[in-house]
Amino acid sequence: MNTVDLDKVKKALVKGEIIALPTETVYGLAANIYNDKAIEKIYALKKRPAYNPLIVHIASSNILEQVAKKIPTKAKELADIFWPGALTLVLEKQDQISNRITAEKKTVAVRVPNHPLALQLLNSLNFPLAAPSANPFGFISPTSAEHVALYFKKELNFILDGGPCSHGLESTIIGFQNDKPILYRHGAIAQEEIEKVTGSISVKNQNNSSPSAPGMLSRHYAPRTPIQITKEISNSIEQNRDKKIGVLSFQKFKNSHSVINQEVLSISGNLKEAAKNLYAALHRLDQMNLDLIITSLFPEKGLGKTINDRLKRAAKK
Ligand code: TXA
Ligand code: MG
Repeated sequence: MNTVDLDKVKKALVKGEIIALPTETVYGLAANIYNDKAIEKIYALKKRPAYNPLIVHIASSNILEQVAKKIPTKAKELADIFWPGALTLVLEKQDQISNRITAEKKTVAVRVPNHPLALQLLNSLNFPLAAPSANPFGFISPTSAEHVALYFKKELNFILDGGPCSHGLESTIIGFQNDKPILYRHGAIAQEEIEKVTGSISVKNQNNSSPSAPGMLSRHYAPRTPIQITKEISNSIEQNRDKKIGVLSFQKFKNSHSVINQEVLSISGNLKEAAKNLYAALHRLDQMNLDLIITSLFPEKGLGKTINDRLKRAAKK
């Protein structure tokens, strides 16, 4: 992407268009936070329910007080350590932040993304960008420009290509109750990393249809192909012999069966590598017209917790 293109993207955003941009977590659909019509376009394009608020992306923590107020000390500490980065803070919103962005909530979700192109763009604009993941509501988040194009090629004039996302999972979301941090969404920064700063935190992973952290709908991050989570992949393959099957596994799954479509997320068993590959592998499997994707849960620690969270939501009927 050269500077001329970035200039066109800037102009489009100033005019109230929406564009797709890379971040280190997943790609986002971005719009000027001060233009309600542009915000409306995001909800329409994503077919996102009106009760599900958007994340605001800012260029640096220096301008945090333009969007949030009464910022708890722990939030400042977390921002100092993790920004720019894959941590979203839910804070009391400033009055000028529109109710459309926050879905009528008094809080706003905000982060500084850690991607050179996203930062270059944010630094060149005089407004922050609202940017939810660039996928239709409920579907797998995009971790490359190609994934965004698969969803929205026709509808978007600009898809900034910043290469594959280095994390490949959405940001970790932390909110506060009486200034105490609470984990709303497992994400690209492991709970254990956050707890090194905050001490032990409670997890409020919502699972109903009218959640307080709405991203936590039970069915979410889902491919079109049904997913089955099983303890014994070989047994499940056996039971589904008549079907066209794909297997998604952490490390190499050795089998005597002829599973043609196998996605191995990290041969060496590295959770960070597996996280980075997860959505791309799901996108690939989903393109193959399979009857079923079979997988097993990952070790329930570090990023394994986030991966398991996404697999369970993807498998939910
Ligand atoms: O990594 C990410 O966070 C990506 C990149 C593009 O930054 N964005 C992303 O956005 O995942 P989205 O909209 O797909 O997920 C944002 C989540 C939603 O689940 C939403 O419900 C939650 O953040 N959220 C936003 N504002 C909130 C608020 N005020 N209170 C609680 N949850 C909020
Ligand atoms: Mg999303």
